[in-house]
Amino acid sequence: MSPRSLSAARLRPLLGAALDSSPAYRGLADALRLLVADGRIPAGTRLPSERDLTTALGVSRTTVSRAYAELRDRGYLESRQGSGSVVVLPGEAAGRRSGGPLQPTSDQLDGPVIDLTCASMSAPPGTVAAYERALEQLPRYLAGTGYHPLGLLALREALAADFTARGLPTDAEQVMVTSGALAGVAIAARALLSPGDRVMLESPTYPNALETLSRSGARPVALPIGAEGWDLDTAEATLRQTAPRAAYLVPDFHNPTGALMPQEQRARLGRALGQTRTVAIVDETLVELAHDPGLVMPAPLAAHHARTVTVGGASKTFWGGLRVGWLRAPRDLMPSLVTARLTLDLGSPVMEQLVLLDLLGHRDTILEARREAVVTTRDALVGDLASQLPDWRFTVPQGGLCLWAELPEALSTPLTVAADRRGVVLAPGSQFAVDGGMERFLRIPFTGHSPEVVTDAVQRIALAWQDAVTSRPSGRRRPPLVA
Ligand SMILES: Cc1ncc(COP(=O)(O)O)c(C=O)c1O
Repeated sequence: MSPRSLSAARLRPLLGAALDSSPAYRGLADALRLLVADGRIPAGTRLPSERDLTTALGVSRTTVSRAYAELRDRGYLESRQGSGSVVVLPGEAAGRRSGGPLQPTSDQLDGPVIDLTCASMSAPPGTVAAYERALEQLPRYLAGTGYHPLGLLALREALAADFTARGLPTDAEQVMVTSGALAGVAIAARALLSPGDRVMLESPTYPNALETLSRSGARPVALPIGAEGWDLDTAEATLRQTAPRAAYLVPDFHNPTGALMPQEQRARLGRALGQTRTVAIVDETLVELAHDPGLVMPAPLAAHHARTVTVGGASKTFWGGLRVGWLRAPRDLMPSLVTARLTLDLGSPVMEQLVLLDLLGHRDTILEARREAVVTTRDALVGDLASQLPDWRFTVPQGGLCLWAELPEALSTPLTVAADRRGVVLAPGSQFAVDGGMERFLRIPFTGHSPEVVTDAVQRIALAWQDAVTSRPSGRRRPPLVA
């Protein structure tokens, strides 16, 4: 396959005021290098020819040639026979992709460790009562074998009714209960993908899904996004150029950026996915976590693209320990999804399904308390970051459980090493990148910590940032488990 390409017209707005600096070639080279390191131009992309870029930017040919030469010298560009100038990530900028979820190895200096690796909350009040009520229901199921590969009918009916109420008519035959949203992604990958198939994913993305899809043999194709959301021109061009078999997307309070895809973008993306016959795997794990209860949520992406497997789960709304999720798919995909599921597990625990069914009946009360806790933590974090680290930039998200901060220097991994020593465990931006890079970003979850703990955490992060800037610590660090 020839590499995906970026036209001069699409590159031009990304460069901003790069050419205002002197010399202009250096400004252009620096701007391109940052775009690559931040994942805005994914590795493997072919840049416009020198001639096209010269014309589009209205600069001299020498400016573009020298900028490209500098990028080549610094390991960001390769000239390939017949393919032009293709972006690569040098070791220095690539960061480190997780080889799998691992436990944190923190050697903190003072105080208890504040773990900011998981965008998840503790179980809500009333969880034990929900288990007790579920236990009363359990005897009705004990006479059966306990194997329900599709899930308990009562739960599937409740989930189907939820989809229908959100603008996506669904019946119980289109719903399968899974052992978490990630298991839903794994089932979709097994059912739909063959080794070598391309899968488009937002970059940054949820790392465990990236790992799951990669391990099924799929080849990831990055769709760059930021806290400002999706660029539909780029999405359409990426689909057209790479015709991926599937696209894994998190349009609802995207993890890690928090972005919410607006209705009109969903419609446009749905059309583009249809044109390339790409199956969407849409992860709605965070969909219920709007911070403002009055926010009108757009209809699910599946309402705009029928060939969509929508996955969701109880982990963020209720509790990760339930390990219950679901998927919803068009009827004709269900048999292959069931077959794939049977290669992973034979069903989800009956008891936890009954607990989820019970909790769904108390959803509004639980969500109200969740929102309040999340917004309190979010506001504390935003205030503390603004005062302690005023040159960090971020957009306050409308929902979800994390903030995607842009650092003034590409030091996310050294920062997390320094933060470990200060007793705060963080996942660096590069852990969320599809192709490496993103060292200028840091995901900070706000998941119900009290404002005092947030203030303590940000003070330690600010000290760690000073350590990172002055001494760039590079100790060995295993990527933490993230959620
Ligand atoms: C986007 C996304 N998908 C899936 C998951 C995992 O969900 P589950 O615990 O239901 O497997 C998470 C957890 O962080 C997530 O953020």
